[in-house]
Amino acid sequence: MRVLVTPDYQTLSQTAAELILKAIRAKPTLTLGLPTGKTPLGMYDALVRAYREQHLDFSKLRTFNLDEFAGMPTVDPCSYRSYMRQHFFDHVNVPPDRIHFPERDSPYEKEIADAGGIDLLIAGVGMNGHIAFNEPGSSFTSRTREVRLTSQTIENAMGGSGSSPAPSRAFTMGIATILDSSCILLLASGAAKKGIIHRALRGPVSEAVPASALQTHPNVVAILDEDASSE
Ligand code: GLP
Repeated sequence: MRVLVTPDYQTLSQTAAELILKAIRAKPTLTLGLPTGKTPLGMYDALVRAYREQHLDFSKLRTFNLDEFAGMPTVDPCSYRSYMRQHFFDHVNVPPDRIHFPERDSPYEKEIADAGGIDLLIAGVGMNGHIAFNEPGSSFTSRTREVRLTSQTIENAMGGSGSSPAPSRAFTMGIATILDSSCILLLASGAAKKGIIHRALRGPVSEAVPASALQTHPNVVAILDEDASSE
């Protein structure tokens, strides 16, 4: 695993966006695994800015989001589809039929395989070490499925902006789905993440810390800001 420590959140976001743009330039038909949460907001912002300023073409990309709430209307402002529209898809030219989210009974694993697998997957990490919505205890052989969320994860994910009722279940890529990606970028920012980043990157590889599975992958770049890396 390569660990890049950047001085601050803005540089982290810019660094992540530049790595993604480099991959898109090398392969315009790139298949991306895309995250939500607060951490990637700056990265999406930098991607949208580069798209506009450099007149880029994203029409041949294919995207697979890591996760989505279960039983939430897609237009709910708290849904990950809404997040992705607001922060990325409404501003770039990825065709709607090339954008994918996990949902009930969707053959997500087959769709990913049919796309030739994920070239580059970007992920954040939850406070308890979850990656996508794979909570502690998730098997490293897990695949896309419906899961129950912990109350801490729901609270963090909803950020007090409560859709009613708050979702207790979600669809998520599994750990094995994530590890099948050719390259993985892990993003973490802020002092609140320093403990879990230390456990995930330097602690024992254990299903108790889902993100520690990334230590077993041959091509991971962790991009941290100084605060997140400080332990
Ligand atoms: C949610 C998402 C995860 C994300 C995590 C961390 O649980 N399902 O994919 O990594 O939040 O989010 P944040 O970046 O806001 O800390």
